[in-house]
Amino acid sequence: MKKLTSESLRQLYLNFFKEKGHKIIPSASLIPENDPSVLFTTAGMHPLVPYLLGEKHPEGTRLTDVQKCVRTGDIEDVGDPSHCTFFEMLGNWSLGDYFKKEMISWSFEFLTSEKYLGIPIEKLAVTVFEGDEDAERDTESASYWEEAGIPKDRIFYLPKKHNWWIAGNVGPCGPDTEMFIDRGTPKCSENCSPACSCGKYLEIWNDVFMQFEKKADGTYEKLKQKNVDTGMGLERTLSILNGVPTVYDTDVFDGAKAQIEELSGKKYGESEEVTKAFRIILDHVRTATFMLGDVKGISPSNVDQGYVLRRVIRRAVRYGRQLGIEQGKLSTIAVKYVEKYSGVYPELNDNKNRIIDELNKEEDKFSKTLTEGLKEFNKVITYIKGDVFPGKTAFRLFDTFGFPIEITTELASEKGFTVDVKGYEEAYKAHQEKSHAGSEQKFKGGLAEQNEVTARLHTATHLLNAALKVVLNDDNINQRGSNITVERLRFDFSFDRKLTPEELKAVEDKVNEAIKANVPVVMEEMSLEDAKNSGAVGVFTQKYGDRVKVYTMGSYSKEICGGPHAKTTGELGTFKIKKEEASSAGVRRIKAILQ
Ligand code: SER
Repeated sequence: MKKLTSESLRQLYLNFFKEKGHKIIPSASLIPENDPSVLFTTAGMHPLVPYLLGEKHPEGTRLTDVQKCVRTGDIEDVGDPSHCTFFEMLGNWSLGDYFKKEMISWSFEFLTSEKYLGIPIEKLAVTVFEGDEDAERDTESASYWEEAGIPKDRIFYLPKKHNWWIAGNVGPCGPDTEMFIDRGTPKCSENCSPACSCGKYLEIWNDVFMQFEKKADGTYEKLKQKNVDTGMGLERTLSILNGVPTVYDTDVFDGAKAQIEELSGKKYGESEEVTKAFRIILDHVRTATFMLGDVKGISPSNVDQGYVLRRVIRRAVRYGRQLGIEQGKLSTIAVKYVEKYSGVYPELNDNKNRIIDELNKEEDKFSKTLTEGLKEFNKVITYIKGDVFPGKTAFRLFDTFGFPIEITTELASEKGFTVDVKGYEEAYKAHQEKSHAGSEQKFKGGLAEQNEVTARLHTATHLLNAALKVVLNDDNINQRGSNITVERLRFDFSFDRKLTPEELKAVEDKVNEAIKANVPVVMEEMSLEDAKNSGAVGVFTQKYGDRVKVYTMGSYSKEICGGPHAKTTGELGTFKIKKEEASSAGVRRIKAILQ
């Protein structure tokens, strides 16, 4: 097996697929466009869902990329050897182009060829879908593996639970074939297979054959086109190739780890407790760095993405404190990540000051109350009868001391208590209109059905963007963020003062004028260069591919965008601004609805 650095593995993968006719596309933002059902991009395929469902991609039918992903479902497990909330996925896609035969032979070549990963065949095992009432047994994939040279007894048939891939509950999906490294340890039982967790088999790559769309009623509909979606976790593959025990021993963490050692005077690995704290800080600061440094940079808050960000920063602060790291130092760890990753994700360097400032601000805010809050916590548990930590007290810790409920839960469980989370949520709801519980549900949820409502709100966002430039007579107004739920749109833009009621009314009128005109929404594909020259607006701090889609609505709006959109502006109804407020320094936020 080849020993590789993260930089060389990314390059090797992308070049391999480039040679096989794929276009290399940039990583999409960590914050999904127009998908209100999840807070973050959770898989390489996530930004490509519309194309897997049949929309035409401007770069063609063969794509490859390295995608930034965040999954927070297992955040409590971070600290163990394998969990991370941020990770990178190497992936390649066929959008109705090649299928099982080509993909399996390429997977075999990339894994075993000396030119690429050089994994000896005898160390490989694969799994395929065993078949059920929804889809047939995948003997076809098995036969391609055999042809390539994988012996029959290393090809395992497994059920849907293991060999079927879907992001969330609905959307494009299909059977997959997964590739494993056999570590050569003895079988744990007669039935030992890659499905068991004894540690003999380590998953390295997943090829999904997306031919179905799972509907909300649980049925599977055949897709118009047969797609391939593959995913190889970068850190995980690096750890396997380099023979290191965990993802935290790979080169992506080297700089940050050395920095924590320097700040704390402790050594990674010196004790279990210290290692756990190191891993939590390593992971959470990296996740915060990528969230703050994203093109759609978010800030800590009490709702949605901002809440998750707040939670990872505060948890890192708490564990930093445990290691003896002084206040105000998390950002020096973040800088190590900026240095490590900027070659691949230049937005981190572009947003370096923002990352440092926001981390310092949030750390400062929490540090002020952390000690007092811990005192309060320790006092309260001395007089609790039984082992349930009251929800009301958990809310007080949040409200007064800024303890995210998850930190209280964690502290409580270390002392043998369970928190009455329901009681906490009731107390929260009683105090605030907006509970973060909404966001918790969201990130348990599945991919959005890209429905008409969000498409209309998204189309209205284009008109709003254009109307602001006209009414405020300022062409330098730039989009700084956009978020759509089924109820409303939210649009952040660069502007340095509050809008007057007259201006807001004029913006509303301008958008409604475009709606009344009922002009068609026209899409054209062109090179990025041509798009810029045509005067199309875009978020140019973001990396676009070479070819882009430009959406034009009469003379009202021309914008680079991925879609989906309404067909004509007349479908939008009536546009109404509900709120205009500051989002951060120099950035205003508008919330609006369609009636
Ligand atoms: N969607 C699959 C995964 O995330 C393959 O990319 O594993």
